Amino acid sequence: MRTLEGTTALITGGSRGIGRAICLRLAAQGAGIVLHYNRNQCAAEEVAAAIGRDVRLVHANLGSPEEIQTMFHELGDLRLDFLINNAGIWKDTPLGSSLSEVIDEVLDTNLKGPFWVTQCALPLLKDGGRIVNISSVAGRTGMAGGRSLYGATKAALDALTRNWALELAPRKILVNAVAPGYVATEMTADYLSDAATFERLMRRQPLGRLCTPEDVADVVAFLCSDAARFITGQSINVSGGLVI
Ligand SMILES: NC(=O)c1ccc[n+]([C@@H]2O[C@H](COP(=O)([O-])OP(=O)(O)OC[C@H]3O[C@@H](n4cnc5c(N)ncnc54)[C@H](OP(=O)(O)O)[C@@H]3O)[C@@H](O)[C@H]2O)c1
Repeated sequence: MRTLEGTTALITGGSRGIGRAICLRLAAQGAGIVLHYNRNQCAAEEVAAAIGRDVRLVHANLGSPEEIQTMFHELGDLRLDFLINNAGIWKDTPLGSSLSEVIDEVLDTNLKGPFWVTQCALPLLKDGGRIVNISSVAGRTGMAGGRSLYGATKAALDALTRNWALELAPRKILVNAVAPGYVATEMTADYLSDAATFERLMRRQPLGRLCTPEDVADVVAFLCSDAARFITGQSINVSGGLVI
C-alpha cells in the first residue's frame, strides 16, 4: 500500500545495510527519498537505481558539523516529513588501548552526528513529522569485547529520543528509536565471519535467526505510518528476544 505518497524522507547512511533497506521500504510506500551517504557514492547510486524514481542523493561525513551544515544548505527549503538517523559505526574501544582519534570518531559519528543532523533538519521538518533514530540493543546490555563506547552512544541516542519527544511535542513531531539486535551487514561482516563467534551468537537467538535489515525497515515504516500516530519517546527493541 502506497500510504506515504506525497511525503519526503531523509535517511542518513542510506547507501548500505539497514539504511538501504529503509530507503527501499519507504520508497515502496510512495515516499520521496533523500538518500544521504558518506564514502560510497556508487552504493548510493545503486540504491537510487533500485528505487527508480524521485531520489535525491546528498553527501556528508557526519563526523563534521561543517559538512552537515553544507548538506542542509544544499537542501535549501525542501520540506521533510521523516528524518531517519541511521548512519553509524561500530568500532573497538577497549579500555587501556583506545586512541583518542577512535574515541572521537565513534562519539562524533554516532552521537554528535545525529544531534547536528536533527538540529539542522528541524527547520525543514514539517509540524507533525517523525524522527526515527536507529539505536541498538547494545545500548541496553553489557557486552564483552571492548565496544563499550558504541553501546554508550546508542544508550545516549535512546536518551535523546526520550528528550526530543518532549522537546518537539509542541510541534507534534513524534520521535522514536528502533533498537536492532545483530544484523548481517558490512558493519558486522568481520565479526560474524568468525565461525565460533557466529555459532555462539546463533545459540543465543531465541527465534533461531539474526535480525535482517528488512525487520528494522518494517518497524521504521510503521513508526512513519498513521498507525503510530500516538507513539513517541519509545525505543522499540527488534532483536527477536536476544535482549529483553
Ligand atoms: N548491523 C548491526 O548488527 C546493527 C545492530 C544494531 C544497530 N545497528 C545500527 O544500524 C545503523 C546502520 O548499521 P548497518 O549495519 O547498516 O551499517 P553499515 O552497513 O556499515 O552502513 C553504515 C552506513 O552509515 C554510513 N556512515 C558510516 N560512517 C559515516 C560517517 N562518518 N558519516 C556519514 N555516514 C556514515 C555509511 O555510509 P557510506 O557507506 O556512504 O560510507 C553507511 O551508509 C547504525 O547506526 C548501526 O549502529 C546496526
